[in-house]
Amino acid sequence: MTPFWNVVVITLIVANIAGCLWLLIWTARPTPGEVTEGAETGHVWDDDLREYNNPLPRWWRNLFVITIVFAAVYLALYPGLGNQPGRLGWTSAGEHDQRAAVTLAQRHALYQAFDGRDIAELRADPKAVALGGKLFQTNCAGCHGVDARGAKGFPNLGDRDWLYGGSAEQVYASITQGRGGQMPSFFGTIDEPTLQSLVAYVRDLHQGQHEAMEYAAGAKKFSGTCAACHGAEGHGNTMLGAPNLSDDTWLHGGSAATIRETILYGRKSQMPSFGAVLGETERRLLSSYVLSLSEPQP
Ligand code: HEC
Ligand code: HEC
Repeated sequence: MTPFWNVVVITLIVANIAGCLWLLIWTARPTPGEVTEGAETGHVWDDDLREYNNPLPRWWRNLFVITIVFAAVYLALYPGLGNQPGRLGWTSAGEHDQRAAVTLAQRHALYQAFDGRDIAELRADPKAVALGGKLFQTNCAGCHGVDARGAKGFPNLGDRDWLYGGSAEQVYASITQGRGGQMPSFFGTIDEPTLQSLVAYVRDLHQGQHEAMEYAAGAKKFSGTCAACHGAEGHGNTMLGAPNLSDDTWLHGGSAATIRETILYGRKSQMPSFGAVLGETERRLLSSYVLSLSEPQP
């Protein structure tokens, strides 16, 4: 706060409290010309409803006094009066740091037993895999599902079909750096007959029927345009996250309509990076869990 606003805030607070105190004293004093305490004021409503001049009950008035004393004590101990820090030196940032330190220490104790062990070793340890599973439920299940089987646009981590590779290093890299797969849009660059042929070609790639005549235009387009990323045989490319199109596992869907949509409008998927969010041991534990889903215990 600038010195100007500091003075404004202090003035407002002090004036407010002093104003309340003054109001309390002023209203408690008898005013000249008033009827005596306990007597009728002479105001009558509805024939028999009469007003008396009775003071506020003492306990009630004391409540007001207590709030004023509380405000003064509070402002002396805690920050509130402009830039004054308060005698206890409390700050919300300080309280946060203190709590964070406690959580961090608890976390450290929990993961200490797994520090410095590589992913293959962790995978062989059921305790490590179970802990990785808990981390998965907290951090990953929202997108990949509680059973890690994914959904449209979110890869299944329980099969052996990998966009970016299924080695321990590759899975660890996916988690640490995050991933961003981008399929370009071909809207306006492809004529309708070629598009239809291409869709049929891609759809049936996994059935190994790509020699048929109806796929000729599509096959030509594929090798000229798509093979750069998806490979000549459509096996995909783990460097780019380009999916394997020659199997029957689909990220976005394998129906003719969905493939058409993918080609025309492109796709963009984002896996967030956890390098700054989770510690190294946590990411290794997660990798061990993810690997345990698709491969049997070594
Ligand atoms: C916001 C949603 C989201 C969250 C949260 C998320 N992921 Fe992902 N993840 C994705 C998407 C989308 C992809 C596919 C990225 C692509 O196609 O480029 C992906 C890809 C992956 C891959 C690569 C899969 C492959 O086939 O190569 C792994 C491994 C992975 N995620 C693990 C995790 C783990 C472990 C966590 C938790 C720490 C996690 N993800 C949290 C959305 C998410
Ligand atoms: C620049 C590289 C690149 C080119 C060129 C490219 N793709 Fe892709 N394609 C990708 C990537 C990366 C993805 C995954 C997108 C994601 O992660 O959501 C993808 C996804 C797809 C999918 C969705 C697969 C699924 O499992 O749901 C289809 C189908 C597809 N591409 C077909 C094609 C066809 C047909 C062509 C040629 C017209 C083509 N791609 C050209 C990179 C490319």
